[in-house]
Amino acid sequence: MKKNILITGGAGFIGSHVVRLLVSKYPNYQVINLDKLTYAGNLANLKDVENASNYKFVKVDICDFDELLNVFKQYEIDGVIHLAAESHVDRSIKDPFTFARTNVLGTLSLLQAAKVYWESLPEKYAEKRFYHISTDEVYGTLDFDGTLFTEQTKYDPHSPYSASKASSDHFVRAYHDTYGMPTIVTNCSNNYGPYQFPEKLIPLFINNIRYGKSLPVYGKGENVRDWLFVEDHARAIDLIFHQGKVAETYNIGGFNEWKNIDLIKIIIKTVDKLLGHPEGCSDHLITYVTDRAGHDLRYAIDSTKLKNELGWEPSLQFEEGIEKTVRWYLDNQDWMDNVVNGGYEKYYEEMCKNW
Ligand code: NAD
Ligand code: DAU
Repeated sequence: MKKNILITGGAGFIGSHVVRLLVSKYPNYQVINLDKLTYAGNLANLKDVENASNYKFVKVDICDFDELLNVFKQYEIDGVIHLAAESHVDRSIKDPFTFARTNVLGTLSLLQAAKVYWESLPEKYAEKRFYHISTDEVYGTLDFDGTLFTEQTKYDPHSPYSASKASSDHFVRAYHDTYGMPTIVTNCSNNYGPYQFPEKLIPLFINNIRYGKSLPVYGKGENVRDWLFVEDHARAIDLIFHQGKVAETYNIGGFNEWKNIDLIKIIIKTVDKLLGHPEGCSDHLITYVTDRAGHDLRYAIDSTKLKNELGWEPSLQFEEGIEKTVRWYLDNQDWMDNVVNGGYEKYYEEMCKNW
């Protein structure tokens, strides 16, 4: 069936994988990637699909309601997969207002534009979907007692980032409960893989090891994160968008917990191996620094519901995923250098000349 799908934040890390998957898997769909191109948005992440006939990019801020409504009308949007957000916890600690603006007000503007457009149609919400991508951080933090976040865990966000995402999740559910909008929310654990902005732990550390720069480990490195390969997240998003039940929440995670310091040692070992360096030669780069304010101790997701109801499971073993990821960053040093030097903005200016 023909569909027009709006993906917000498609020039970012996870969004670019979702765009790539949908453009290649559904030639009948028109995939509209709506992105403001903040520091984290990079059209070079989508070079391989930019000329596809079923792909279109629009540069719009999700806080601009009028522009959003124009996009809904112009492209006759049937479904939304909403990923656009400010996504980095450390930035939210320094600049919480930007997070409230984009993540809360931006999500609200998008919901309202969808509502106004869909309610203007004769069929209204029939066959429509508003799918909101959220995070496990809304659940707060866990002890080292083996418990997991389930869909029933109470929200308890701690950082300005997670507070803004929690607020946006509540607005999405409110649009279902109040106006009958067919919404779905998913909460995913830490993603890793190609095209992640190198402010996040894994790409930052791979690049620093390559250049012999220090590796800033927050606190004692004992915090635990639950890691999922980004393409597995993109597959889950595709499945849930098409087969998930309206008004439901699904947790997405890989049952793959790692203490930061243990993960960091694996990254060091893998980078050194692939660069042909003697084992252990980059260990001295580990530098313990002041902890992140309000640093959540442990995240761990229970994604049993998604497995039981929709049959999703991660496809990649962690060791394989990490090696694939390290190899990708080492093989794509131009991408990394362009990002670090802000080259992706110049790329956009060049692209604009062709439009
Ligand atoms: P990212 O920072 O790599 O990308 C965010 C994208 O949103 C960028 O392309 C940016 O330009 C765009 N954007 C930001 N503000 C915008 C605005 N006002 N208008 C339009 N576009 C805007 O983020 P990511 O890591 O790919 O995360 C994507 C989504 O997934 C976010 O909602 C995040 O909360 C969620 N999430 C991320 C992870 C993770 O581990 N990265 C895990 C769970 C959930
Ligand atoms: O859990 C899902 C979340 O995962 C997403 O919602 C966020 O968008 C995403 O950024 C990520 O948040 P984290 O804060 O967990 O990711 P980050 O890569 O920033 O940090 C991972 C862990 O590593 C965390 O415990 C902090 C630590 N860390 C991070 C950096 C950047 C360090 O010790 N040193 C660092 O330099």
